[in-house]
Amino acid sequence: MSLRTLESLGSLAGTRIVVRCDLNVPLQDGVITDDGRVRASLPTLKTLLDAGARVVVVSHLGRPEGAPDARYSLAPVAKRLSELLGSDVSFASDTVGADAQKVVGALGDGQVAVLENLRFNPGETSKDEADRTAFAEKLASFGDAFVSDGFGVVHRKQASVYELPKLLPSAAGLLISTELEVLDRLTESPERPYTVVLGGSKVSDKLGVIGHLLPRVNTLLIGGGMLFTFLAAQGHKVGSSLLEEDQLDTVRGYLAEAEKLGVDIVLPTDVVVAAAFSADAEHVVQPADAIEKTPFGASGLGLDIGPDTSARFADIIRSSKTVFWNGPMGVFELAPFAAGTQAVAQALTDVDGLSVVGGGDSAAAVRALGFDDDQFGHISTGGGASLEFLEGKRLPGLEILGWQQ
Ligand code: 3PG
Ligand code: MG
Repeated sequence: MSLRTLESLGSLAGTRIVVRCDLNVPLQDGVITDDGRVRASLPTLKTLLDAGARVVVVSHLGRPEGAPDARYSLAPVAKRLSELLGSDVSFASDTVGADAQKVVGALGDGQVAVLENLRFNPGETSKDEADRTAFAEKLASFGDAFVSDGFGVVHRKQASVYELPKLLPSAAGLLISTELEVLDRLTESPERPYTVVLGGSKVSDKLGVIGHLLPRVNTLLIGGGMLFTFLAAQGHKVGSSLLEEDQLDTVRGYLAEAEKLGVDIVLPTDVVVAAAFSADAEHVVQPADAIEKTPFGASGLGLDIGPDTSARFADIIRSSKTVFWNGPMGVFELAPFAAGTQAVAQALTDVDGLSVVGGGDSAAAVRALGFDDDQFGHISTGGGASLEFLEGKRLPGLEILGWQQ
């Protein structure tokens, strides 16, 4: 890996540095529910500020559609950043407009500003390279150099990730370097046994990863929404649980390939089935091959892995030397369906080796369940980005910084 690093930018005192962070944090009614990504941005920002740079932070938040949308304002994030840095952070109410120009122009050495959500401008995510470049040029006018540190978006070919680094002297920040060191260990030389735990509700996203991981791992544990597509692929009825019918053949293919490769794909043997999707819904633990045989019949919803499965997953995780986990095992936000995720997280903290939690959702889950970041080997800030890295996909936001897989 030959990533350009901060040192390559030379002396930073008095220079304006545009920094792309991924400050895409979960918000509930304007309140940040997990500030992990803000905290993860601190080492780079502090390094630049201590060196006397004038720092202009840019980020996206959520998926607004190319126009201002108050629900996705970065204002609460700028406030949190100010608390964490223990210093003032100015905030521009637009991205490249009059306010941004004023705020950037007023920055002194060692001061920091956050600009409003990049995705309020259609140029950020445009499919048209010329549109992206035009937007990147405006961002570039705010800096003498560019630092890319939003690991969570390096898989996106977007203006602030891919076009902007072509327009200014550019380097990767400390978060990107740290993430790459850990993910490299997972792909290049994992100590064995190597177990990957996959869950979460974005079923088809994750299904794509499995094919790429199979030849690399010893064991794959499947929980979360996607487990029902696996059970259905084996001929079981899954009631009203999440199911991607169009993926059944793909899943059957994976099961057959795993057998050929000698990789264990471990599926739940019991699940928690609920009458409805709510915290006070009636629910029972049920064998995974009899999901419709509860009082709720075909309308029952599987919302978590069951206790036998949790215990089995935990045993496998604890006896592994390398574990990567992406995606909650159940609907952990609702207390009755959090036990599977809790058990998996707990087991990861006991791993004698490298344990990595990947993904916005899983990172938020472990913090919501009361775990500390330092109980794990590494908590990645990248969901899609870390999965695509492990898939061996080309990541435009890294390649443009000189990195080669
Ligand atoms: C994420 O949360 O996965 C990153 O911030 C990227 O966001 P996106 O999936 O909306 O591009
Ligand atoms: Mg995403």
